[in-house]
Amino acid sequence: MTIILGLESSCDETAAALVEAGPSAARVILAQRIASQDAEHAPYGGVVPEIAARAHAERLAPMIAGVLADAGLALADVDAIAATAGPGLIGGVMVGLVTAKALAMAADKPLIAVNHLEGHALSARLAEPSLAFPYLLLLASGGHCQLLLVRGVGDYRRLATTIDDALGEAFDKTAKILGLGYPGGPAVERLAAKGDARAVPLPRPLKGSAEPHFSFAGLKSAVLRAHQAGVHQPEDIAASFQRAAIDCVIDRTSRALGAAGEAAGPVSALVVAGGVAANQAMRAALQALAAAHDLPFVAPPLALCTDNAAMIAWAGYEKFIARPQGWLGDGLDFVARPRWPLDPDAAPARGAGVKA
Ligand code: KG4
Ligand code: ZN
Repeated sequence: MTIILGLESSCDETAAALVEAGPSAARVILAQRIASQDAEHAPYGGVVPEIAARAHAERLAPMIAGVLADAGLALADVDAIAATAGPGLIGGVMVGLVTAKALAMAADKPLIAVNHLEGHALSARLAEPSLAFPYLLLLASGGHCQLLLVRGVGDYRRLATTIDDALGEAFDKTAKILGLGYPGGPAVERLAAKGDARAVPLPRPLKGSAEPHFSFAGLKSAVLRAHQAGVHQPEDIAASFQRAAIDCVIDRTSRALGAAGEAAGPVSALVVAGGVAANQAMRAALQALAAAHDLPFVAPPLALCTDNAAMIAWAGYEKFIARPQGWLGDGLDFVARPRWPLDPDAAPARGAGVKA
């Protein structure tokens, strides 16, 4: 069995976890701790990078001691140390990566530099040991909205991305417009449950389009106009927004699974990951889509959807066992990356501000 310590600090969650896994299906989260910075950022309506980096720096070291104590382990019992090395808010990424480097050097353990997006992409395999490559992944978080063909560890083909806003960003902006505070996704979901999804006519950008990509900027603007019109109940706007966003996601994912997606080849399952995967209505719609295509649907438990360190430890494990003979870990000179696409060969999508 292999024990990996994972660290996450790329946005506004400070997290550490210990994952134990072996060649059989055995995989156990031995311990995990997470500290949200919602309270620090709430007054500003979004994440303030400098505040985030300072909070990570204050919390990470005691948190690592905490998870080791929770698991009854010492650093010497750990086989490797994995940390998010990008993409993300660079100050925070540097805090986690430098901490991992220091521990790796002090304890003489391999360092594993993990792509945060790969953490999300592989999280479903921590939750569902039978999930085999290749699978179609909808990765929907605060910074990304992509459809990816996950062919193996480190082997991704991006089939679609957003040409403007990320899906989680659209939820967060809708929450801001409706005065629901930050973070917005869970608040919009709660309010939407009380509203009528047919009450407010909203656009479905790029629905039915021949190009594979997502777009949410027009939907966000329509939400703002609907709110300013002053004739709709906030819960109806929330419900109508959520329904429109889900319709877009289902249309685009369906395209990727259908005839247009056949070029990508057969897949073993439809998988959703990232913070928006915590949305129950989204999960239900994707589950129905997978069933219509006779595919298993895999969605990690809610705590593994939003940012966490267990997924970083798990991705570290997957990289660790896939390593070539004689690999001693990533170099201590590995540089934190603000941008780090999973598919570096993907053609740029049209549009400004693309989050590739
Ligand atoms: O993956 P994540 O925790 O952080 C990033 O890597 O971005 O995703 C955070 C995003 C935020 O935009 C948040 O509003 C959204 O995921 N989110 C949700 C829900 N929970 C979190 N969106 C819709 N419904 C939810 N229940
Ligand atoms: Zn994330």
